[in-house]
Amino acid sequence: MRPKCFVCTLIFPGDNMRTHVYYMILFFLAVGRAGAQRVELLQCEQLTDPLGIDVRAPRLSWQIATSGPAQRREDIGGVKGLRQTAYEVLVASSPALLEAGKGDLWHSGKVASDQSRMILYKGVPLRSRITCYWKVRVWTSAGEMEWSAPAVWSMGLLEPTDWKAKWIGYEHGFPWDSVSKFSRLSARYFRKEFQAAKAVRRATVYIAGPGHYECSINGQRVSNQVLAEAPTDYTKSVKYNAFDVTKEIRPGANAIGVVLGNGRFFTMRPKYKPKKIKEFGFPRLLLQLEIEYNDGSRSSVVSDDNWKFTADGPIRSNNEYDGEEYDATRELKGWDRPGYADARWLHPEQVPSPGGRLTAQMNELIAVKKIVSPVSVLESRPGVYILDMGQNMAGWVQMKVKGQRGQRVVLRYGETLQKDGDIYTANLRDARVTDIYTLKGEGEEVWHPVFVFHGFRYVSIEGYPGKPAVADFEGQVVYDDIPTIGEFRCSDTLLNRIYRNAWWGIASNYKGMPMDCPQRNERMPWLGDRTTGALGESYLFGNENLYAKWLDDIEDSQKPDGSLPDVAPAYWNYYSDNMTWPGAYLTIAEMLYQQFGDRRPIERHYASMKKWLTYMSGKYLRDGILWKDKYGDWCVPPESPKLIHSKDSSRITDGALIATAYYYHFLELMSRWAGMLHRDDDHVTFAALAEKARSAFNRKFRTPDAGYSNNTVTANLLPLSFGMASDSERVFRQIVDKVVKDGDHISTGVIGTQWLMRGLTRFGRPDLAWRIATNTTYPSWGYMAERGATTIWELWNGDSADPAMNSHNHVMLLGDLLTWLYEDLAGIAPMEPGFRVIRMKPCFPEGLSSVEASYRSPYGLIVSRWKKEGGRLSWDITIPGNASAEVYLPGRPVEKIGAGSYHFEMDHL
Ligand code: BGC
Repeated sequence: MRPKCFVCTLIFPGDNMRTHVYYMILFFLAVGRAGAQRVELLQCEQLTDPLGIDVRAPRLSWQIATSGPAQRREDIGGVKGLRQTAYEVLVASSPALLEAGKGDLWHSGKVASDQSRMILYKGVPLRSRITCYWKVRVWTSAGEMEWSAPAVWSMGLLEPTDWKAKWIGYEHGFPWDSVSKFSRLSARYFRKEFQAAKAVRRATVYIAGPGHYECSINGQRVSNQVLAEAPTDYTKSVKYNAFDVTKEIRPGANAIGVVLGNGRFFTMRPKYKPKKIKEFGFPRLLLQLEIEYNDGSRSSVVSDDNWKFTADGPIRSNNEYDGEEYDATRELKGWDRPGYADARWLHPEQVPSPGGRLTAQMNELIAVKKIVSPVSVLESRPGVYILDMGQNMAGWVQMKVKGQRGQRVVLRYGETLQKDGDIYTANLRDARVTDIYTLKGEGEEVWHPVFVFHGFRYVSIEGYPGKPAVADFEGQVVYDDIPTIGEFRCSDTLLNRIYRNAWWGIASNYKGMPMDCPQRNERMPWLGDRTTGALGESYLFGNENLYAKWLDDIEDSQKPDGSLPDVAPAYWNYYSDNMTWPGAYLTIAEMLYQQFGDRRPIERHYASMKKWLTYMSGKYLRDGILWKDKYGDWCVPPESPKLIHSKDSSRITDGALIATAYYYHFLELMSRWAGMLHRDDDHVTFAALAEKARSAFNRKFRTPDAGYSNNTVTANLLPLSFGMASDSERVFRQIVDKVVKDGDHISTGVIGTQWLMRGLTRFGRPDLAWRIATNTTYPSWGYMAERGATTIWELWNGDSADPAMNSHNHVMLLGDLLTWLYEDLAGIAPMEPGFRVIRMKPCFPEGLSSVEASYRSPYGLIVSRWKKEGGRLSWDITIPGNASAEVYLPGRPVEKIGAGSYHFEMDHL
């Protein structure tokens, strides 16, 4: 059938003739066959072609993409769009079988279903090590599609008995090490030679090397990952990684080499505050290389005490706070190749396992994700040069250097400069953040550290032979290997800068877990920093697997009585029992459900969440009020520029109010989830408890003449946002009055800011939200940007506050800003979990003339681009295949549309 298309202009008289609203809608009839569409982005457990997974019934997903302009809206009101009507999945044990259409592992048959995400594998039980080749075809409202290109996943080692390898290590320091507060522990180099007797069909290495490892075979790194494996509480859980090393194995002699670094395993501050800081011991290794030959036979190489090791190599010290020291004169040339003379190396000890369950890492590894070229290098005092990256970032610099054997280059990292031009380190507290490189003197040497990272914009360089040039350095930006899935740009350059700063802040703080900051002697996965932040971040980064892993970390850290910590993994032992920090456990599960359509985290963690709420209410509920709090509305703008925390009671919100409001909010969430999981008793019980909490809250904190408690924005915003206030208009008025009185400035801290932008907008004052977002005076995000910030500060007064707590790269003060940019300015929000149904509802504040945003949702790309020009508003949107949307325009009835691209125009109100 020939494609047909036509353009249609629909005119709707405005309800109010003054506004004379009309739309011009272009639409095309869908082409009659599905040629322009494809099934793509096949994923298994939300990963592309993962190796060595251990989910026995993995979930399979795909997207239905359309190419070119052919796929358009089919009709108005009927929400047909491009819908999947059926699918067929084939999973085979070889590419040939898959090609021949034989699903010996699973053939789903043709299943009438519109589900294209997270289809549960229901084939033959999957054994350890098996590789599964799969493809899918779908039927849609536009016809039958071709089979997808093949995808693959492989199973890891599912049974404990699959592991023949032994944990090896060495439970002592060496004379050049020092185990003290500022520990210096050298990296440990392990090696093993082996023979590959025949032609290799497949070889896979399974490795766990906590804290960090680098693995190579015959001198070749097995992957480009850095800082592997994912950090956990190793006494509860240890992750292993799997790599395909078929190409690295040669016939005859081979060698495998592993370097172990400290990471979080050999903690940065051992023997310092034993009650606070958790220690795991000396680094250790578990490795199993499995080789399958062409003739079907197998062999394996496993870590055991027949391996050799030394700690007398080039990495003399590695400490995430203090830096890495590398002495190139001590390089062990050829140590990870066959034939190296290791007679003087030691045999490792067999050591106990760290204790945790050994499972496959199901979140992405960390990688060098971006290269930054420095903008300048200037001499600050004789022999000391300051390198400016032009951007606060996390990672390291790679240096090129030529000089004499034994010369030492000292690199110190910092976020800002002192007045005299030297690097400012007071806000790093006792983190020394110094890398030292000793030259071997053999021509050009290229180096970067491997087991540490730094949060920095500036690097002070001392001892560099000659005069360093910008071209001798590059910044390597290191974070989890996840894609940036959202883009946002608008006509306001300041807001674009703030957005950019936020991107850098988030990227800096993803390191297999979300951390608070990347630079000072902290870098801890604080829960409260992400309670709502994780949601905003999910519009920029594909952070699904990272946060799913983090929920496991949180669960691992739960005490038997139900208490949850403020930091998880609980590297710092903080169990202060409050609602707002541990509450991230619940809000992030909800985020994963709403943003990615994944309800497994809720199912998996429901019991532990319930246990926590029960524990908290059992211990801290008095007369309906959850009185226990710890951090209050952390980091409100203080009254004096030097202060970290305000002492002015009119700025401080009552901790019991915050705790009880969140208690109510969580009970509501639990009640909704209980309904979803068919736990009917819980559903009713939680709802009843919530109602009780709401009444007690209003009795205690509602004042007759104004809003709640001492009338801070946070005190009013929480009950308003959680639906606890019966007279919401009046409560909202209090918030508006206060913001206006403050000259359109923010007065909230980490808690209130989580609800502020959405609250103002959804209760009718997007103009105020807009003014707050674009303020340049203190306190505001714009103030930070105007003062030269290239990330987001920990404190609103980060340019003047006490250095004791003044990171320049935190994300917690972002609150709900990013969510607001996407959901309210671009107007892209999920109405049904995973953006199955999308709410397209932008607001168009005065002063903003255009927005261009796109978001790669689980169903595909969503686009929203609007522009005000010459009194007209035009809006282009794209809805991906197998999704639909409700479109909201001011003064118009809601429209339901299906997949496709649309153009709307109207007179601008
Ligand atoms: C951290 C924060 C954290 C807070 C709570 C700070 O030191 O950097 O991000 O949430 O402590 O106490």
